[in-house]
Amino acid sequence: MKNSSVSYQAAKEELKRAVDIVELIGQFVQLRKAGQNFLGLCPFHSEKVPSFTVSPSKQMFHCFGCKKGGDIFAFWMAYHHVSFPQAMRDLAERYHVSLPTGTLGPLEKAKFELNEALLEINEIAAQYFHQLLKSSAKGEPGRRYFARRAIPAEIIDEFRLGYAPKAWDGLIKFLKSKKADLEKARQAGLIIAKEKGGYYDRFRDRVMFPIFNMRGQVVGFGGRVLDDSLPKYLNTPETPVFHKGKLLYGLHASYQAIRKSGCAVIVEGYTDFLALRKNGFHEAVATLGTALTREHIRRLKGYAREAIVVFDPDTAGKSAAMGSLSYFLDEGLPARVALLPGNEDPDSFVNKKGVVAFQGLLENSVPMFDFFIDRKLSEKTDYIENRVDLLKEIIPVLSELRNSAQRSLYTRRLSEKLGIAESALIEELEKWGRQRSWTARQNDLVEKVTASKAKRKDDLFLLNLLVNYPHITQRVINQDFRLLLSDPAVIQIFDSLAEMHAKEGPLPAAEVMDRLEAEDAKERLREAMLMAPFCDDNEVELALAEFEDRIQKIKILEAKKKALKKGDIEGLAKIPKLIRERWG
Ligand code: CTP
Ligand code: MN
Repeated sequence: MKNSSVSYQAAKEELKRAVDIVELIGQFVQLRKAGQNFLGLCPFHSEKVPSFTVSPSKQMFHCFGCKKGGDIFAFWMAYHHVSFPQAMRDLAERYHVSLPTGTLGPLEKAKFELNEALLEINEIAAQYFHQLLKSSAKGEPGRRYFARRAIPAEIIDEFRLGYAPKAWDGLIKFLKSKKADLEKARQAGLIIAKEKGGYYDRFRDRVMFPIFNMRGQVVGFGGRVLDDSLPKYLNTPETPVFHKGKLLYGLHASYQAIRKSGCAVIVEGYTDFLALRKNGFHEAVATLGTALTREHIRRLKGYAREAIVVFDPDTAGKSAAMGSLSYFLDEGLPARVALLPGNEDPDSFVNKKGVVAFQGLLENSVPMFDFFIDRKLSEKTDYIENRVDLLKEIIPVLSELRNSAQRSLYTRRLSEKLGIAESALIEELEKWGRQRSWTARQNDLVEKVTASKAKRKDDLFLLNLLVNYPHITQRVINQDFRLLLSDPAVIQIFDSLAEMHAKEGPLPAAEVMDRLEAEDAKERLREAMLMAPFCDDNEVELALAEFEDRIQKIKILEAKKKALKKGDIEGLAKIPKLIRERWG
């Protein structure tokens, strides 16, 4: 019998050969060439200056900011929040590599299988609602509704719109006929358990909008009533595959257009998105009725260089919208606000006035920062009261900005707009900063401490030398270079390397990394691998000599310390000679 873990390994290798990491990550993160590597804004932490590096030669990525990194699998797992086996499955499907049914850990397997089951059952439900809308007599109310909203067949098909019938067990019957697991359907939020046993359909007599993940799989639904009754929309509750605060409706269909133009247009509703799409506008996404979250903005950053948020005049006034300003500022995604006239939303506006008029609105959009300030200022007529109120709202936002250059830029803008001296604003900011929560300050501290750790330059320099000039490995091992190291993770790398080297001779750095167990050791080695070489060919000898020099010094100092401690006069007397011999 073939060992399945061996063929699993083989499939992993085949995938690594089949997938180019730059092409793969480039689909999700905007990358530009920088020397031998590619650079982009890290999708895993907030930054404005790119430190997310992808190396085509090493087929690895590494963020010099948050230290996340690894190979294609590590990227897929982190970006899509999936387990390793699922990452394998996804990539295998995408790149047409066949997979053996490998052995997984029991926990991973359970999680993987649950997610798969939920996706599968959502898919069945989507087919049911869609078919009902398209070709069942029971779908008539849904057809009438979409006709009234002027949503054409192509859009119905492309976005797989549907209709949930007016019945307590429409979907349930269908699921039973497909021999689907009803308990899974409950976990997917499609049906609800009755107190006395059994289930009933969650979505009844509603038009259905399937919601897709970036892979185009159905993860949940929004269902709208056909009339004015409440609640207008019913959504899938949070499930392992459905997270409202992370999903953007339509992004899977819009990301290429957004990437191309560099601009993402954020609207509030499914129907707004679809109306724009119908009119040939492909750069929109919609939130799922929630306020914009940091996760949303971070996700968009992978495709867009700027965002335009389309508000109806009514939402613009809500102070919740102000919250998103701080995310945009903090995530470094420039944002503008486009305002719709009167009582329109993007759907009604584009249907009445057409896409050119909509584009006109976008062109007239204003920077979000200015928009909020101007708006606040115009709210009240009392000059003084107004300014005080505004400061109360805007100071926390500004003081949260981690980028100090940006903070001073906006402080200046604010000072100009309010006619308040910049120094006074800075004073207010500082006051606020002092009041900030202990946790925030603790986080800052942690950041500082980790940054100083990164300053352990020798460690990194040596690793970098070894990675780029493997022929020096034996010499480095012989010469006790370990004495120069201070970072335990790097010491561990050295020890493992020495051990492997003794047993097997020279090994490629990627191989060494694969065999390291500790995450921080992997991280250091990856960092060393992805940095440009610290010195070039003809400087290697010089660098080594300098290191060797310092090792000798350390050794002599240690000998001296030892001799002193033991009162070893003879040993102590030898020290000056040792020094003379070496340094003359
Ligand atoms: N929404 C929701 N629950 C509600 C109301 C709204 O989840 N009770 C979400 C939906 O995602 C909806 C979005 O908020 O698409 C915007 O709401 P609204 O503007 O009221 O709906 P429209 O999208 O304009 O829907 P329609 O045009 O069909 O009235
Ligand atoms: Mn609407």
